[in-house]
Amino acid sequence: MWRMLTLSWFATVSVAQFGIEHTQYGTSPPVYPSPNITGAGGWEPALEKARAFVAELTLEEKADMVTVLINAGTPGPCVGNIAPIPRLNFSGLCLQDGPLAIRQAVLASVFPAQLTVAAAWDRTYAHQRGVYMADEFKGKGSQIALGPVVGPLGRSPYGGRNWEGFSPDPYLSGILVEETVKGMQSVGVQACTKHYIGNEQEIQRNPSRGPGPTVEAVSSNIDDRTMHETYLWPFANALRAGTASIMCSYQRINGSYGCQNSKALNGLLKEELGFQGYVMSDWGGTHSGVASIQAGLDMNMPGGIGFTSGTTSFFGGNVTTAVNNGSLPVERLNDMVTRIMTPFYFLGQDKGFPATDATVEPLNFFPKENYVHNFTLGPLVDVREGHRSLIRELGAAGTVLLKNTGNTLPLKQPKNIGVFGNDAADFSQGLIPSNDYDIGTLPVGGGSGTGRFSYVVSPLEAIKTRGQSYGALVQYITSNSAITNRRLSSLAPSPPDVCIVFLKSWASEGDDRTTLIAEWNSTAVVEQTTSVCSNTVVVLHGAAPNVLPWRDNANVTAILIAHMPGQETGNSIVDVLWGQTNPSGKLPYTIAKQESDYKKLLTNSTELLASTDPDAWQADFTEGQLIDYREFDAENKTPAYEFGFGLSYTTFDLSAFQTSVTSSNATRTPRATAKVLPGGNVELWETVATVSATVTNTGTVSGATVAQLYVSLPAAEAGPGTPVRSLRGFEKMTLGAGESAKVTFSLARRDLSFWDTGAQTWRLPSRAIGVHVGFSSRDLKLNGEISV
Ligand SMILES: *[C@@H]1O[C@H](CO)[C@@H](O)[C@H](O)[C@H]1NC(C)=O
Ligand SMILES: *[C@@H]1O[C@H](CO)[C@@H](O)[C@H](O)[C@H]1NC(C)=O
Ligand SMILES: *[C@@H]1O[C@H](CO)[C@@H](O)[C@H](O)[C@H]1NC(C)=O
Ligand SMILES: *[C@@H]1O[C@H](CO)[C@@H](O)[C@H](O)[C@H]1NC(C)=O
Ligand SMILES: *[C@@H]1O[C@H](CO)[C@@H](O)[C@H](O)[C@H]1NC(C)=O
Ligand SMILES: *[C@@H]1O[C@H](CO)[C@@H](O)[C@H](O)[C@H]1NC(C)=O
Ligand SMILES: *[C@@H]1O[C@H](CO)[C@@H](O)[C@H](O)[C@H]1NC(C)=O
Ligand SMILES: *[C@@H]1O[C@H](CO)[C@@H](O)[C@H](O)[C@H]1NC(C)=O
Ligand SMILES: *[C@@H]1O[C@H](CO)[C@@H](O)[C@H](O)[C@H]1NC(C)=O
Ligand SMILES: *[C@@H]1O[C@H](CO)[C@@H](O)[C@H](O)[C@H]1NC(C)=O
Repeated sequence: MWRMLTLSWFATVSVAQFGIEHTQYGTSPPVYPSPNITGAGGWEPALEKARAFVAELTLEEKADMVTVLINAGTPGPCVGNIAPIPRLNFSGLCLQDGPLAIRQAVLASVFPAQLTVAAAWDRTYAHQRGVYMADEFKGKGSQIALGPVVGPLGRSPYGGRNWEGFSPDPYLSGILVEETVKGMQSVGVQACTKHYIGNEQEIQRNPSRGPGPTVEAVSSNIDDRTMHETYLWPFANALRAGTASIMCSYQRINGSYGCQNSKALNGLLKEELGFQGYVMSDWGGTHSGVASIQAGLDMNMPGGIGFTSGTTSFFGGNVTTAVNNGSLPVERLNDMVTRIMTPFYFLGQDKGFPATDATVEPLNFFPKENYVHNFTLGPLVDVREGHRSLIRELGAAGTVLLKNTGNTLPLKQPKNIGVFGNDAADFSQGLIPSNDYDIGTLPVGGGSGTGRFSYVVSPLEAIKTRGQSYGALVQYITSNSAITNRRLSSLAPSPPDVCIVFLKSWASEGDDRTTLIAEWNSTAVVEQTTSVCSNTVVVLHGAAPNVLPWRDNANVTAILIAHMPGQETGNSIVDVLWGQTNPSGKLPYTIAKQESDYKKLLTNSTELLASTDPDAWQADFTEGQLIDYREFDAENKTPAYEFGFGLSYTTFDLSAFQTSVTSSNATRTPRATAKVLPGGNVELWETVATVSATVTNTGTVSGATVAQLYVSLPAAEAGPGTPVRSLRGFEKMTLGAGESAKVTFSLARRDLSFWDTGAQTWRLPSRAIGVHVGFSSRDLKLNGEISV
């Protein structure tokens, strides 16, 4: 009876009131009711404890449990706070940003951004970084870390938050998010994988409320196949890894807000992918109460102060009222709280957890005298441990060598070194990168995904240390305008043996990038340097991709794309420059010859910005799956440097290609009766074929490379828009000079299937599938076919 009432309420009221709207390109079908947690996948004992806890709660306490208290105006020590319930010995939950550091904490590490992790193509580093970051969150008393990020995936090369995620390739992102979540949760901290889903641009990600009508947020209109094979793909990996929570995103999907889209939350996430944790909203991303709850939202963040104070919130007191007046079944509220508490027990967070470090209160705007609840605060703790060595190594591992004329690198103890560019210098604007500052290195981007540095080793500082260790002269100019205004004439002796130019490209939450050329007059900086220095090494830090207008300049003898290495940035680059670390990073995206070779894929214009049409902002993802290298392959465009590319100080070769089909004549689709565990139908993850090859280091020094496997599904069967090639395997391999090793790639059913929109399932093609193994998306030496 209840359910019928609820359903009919939704069929009539919510469609009209809460904007499950129809656009030309995509419509969001209603999917109700919201599935209950079952504990499937090993959480059953934790679920029982959570149920027992929920049974003790009053209605008001339940409402508080789903309503995050934010520091701004409704104080608590963390960026999001769930109130303690002393009566039940529950000390509350502390939620903290972000994906590469505890953003606001002091004496904590700033790790490399996920962009750097992606460029390292290394499962072990991804896992270890997750472990260390979570150690720090735990040490500071934070049960829930707001990361990692696989949305944005990186549809547009201009996306302002792409660097917070891994790569526009869903497979690479999927493997790395899985390792990150596993690493984080292995030390008892809840991961919150975000932002679900289609959060591919910053412009108009939220509604704008001016004097006129509210102009709604941009709508990402995504067809079903693209959703499954591209944007949803890495989220499935995060679920499979057991992510405790998912953060729904700001923008609309097919016309319906990300935190009240029942198809995305109830349908895809909780039904199809079997999600057992809780969905929390992005900050201010909730636009309704009961409608969002019925669509699958479990926690409102921030929620206003909740029931106890009566301050405004779509949740809080409204949840209590809605249960009392019959518009929200209490069973749904119970499920929300149970979903929140199950990972808490599963990760043993009830067995004693460090108190929240009192110094994490952001900027001390909200002193604890203002707290309504009694949060337990602990002393200042330094949580950095020995994490700096991993940070340094990973920063180097995520650096990609694109050009190395005449073996300029590694440097051979040059005696006269020039260092140029504003990115070489130490910070000049404080220890939190918060805007596009001129002088100062760029180790990570801005916004909620940044970190408060306890120190940074600048490139200049590290080069001085290194050069002076053997008596070299290090000359430097860190003002770009000084360089472009001919201050290079001050060098003596001149020219230096090597000139190292440091450029940077800024990006931050809240804005998309307006250019893909490094900022601060970077082209002129390179040109001025090469005009006096025929041995110029260019190092580029920051957001990616960038086009490199000077890449064919003969005096640019080496190019290093150094991404966002975190606090040890200078040491990481020195390790690569002097050859302590042999570069092994590979591009996790495509570098085009020029900006206009990319499709911009941003919805934005002067007209839109001026529009008062509430529904003006529509982003139709008509390119489907063909983003980044899949776009270049489909359109036969030649990039400057392709996806997967990166040089080394040694060389590698491939041989002995073998394929084997594990499960011959497999059913075309996974059995509908098979179990659904977090991550989806279990048969999707079963290995159906393997491909192997031998990798040999053919050079004279040891080094690492990444063997990459791409598959070509038969377009005749999979349909139009099928990528020419898609990454479906990779392995980082370290080999001594002359050494060989075998690599074996396991291909799961999902890896070889396409999403059949009619049958609403993954389907293995009947025709042969092309398989290619090589060292980049365009350097594919070994080619064959498999039939499964
Ligand atoms: C978006 O719209 C397309 C086309 O109508 C539909 O196939 C797909 O399931 C919708 N996805 C969501 C999340 O609403
Ligand atoms: C969830 O469980 C409750 C009982 O606790 C039940 O009343 C409700 O119908 C279930 N909902 C769904 C969607 O199965
Ligand atoms: C309930 O939500 C409405 C917005 O729909 C808000 O105006 C009101 O203040 C909320 N009430 C409480 C008690 O938070
Ligand atoms: C019940 O309460 C909710 C939350 O305050 C409100 O949105 C809704 O209109 C109320 N419904 C009825 C029938 O009173
Ligand atoms: C309260 O919880 C703590 C862990 O947070 C535990 O050590 C303690 O034994 C609990 N006390 C009671 C009375 O259950
Ligand atoms: C906080 O602690 C004080 C002192 O023990 C107590 O009087 C007060 O009621 C507590 N407040 C809450 C919200 O629990
Ligand atoms: C950029 O470089 C050009 C060429 O060297 C120079 O003329 C110009 O002044 C520079 N712009 C700024 C803002 O420094
Ligand atoms: C390269 O260096 C040589 C020698 O210093 C110089 O003559 C030439 O103009 C430089 N080329 C460029 C493009 O800067
Ligand atoms: C969006 O469009 C406006 C108006 O054309 C422009 O000024 C702005 O730079 C654009 N933003 C981006 C990120 O392209
Ligand atoms: C493959 O399986 C199908 C049904 O599962 C069966 O009809 C067919 O004969 C099998 N083919 C081979 C070659 O075994």
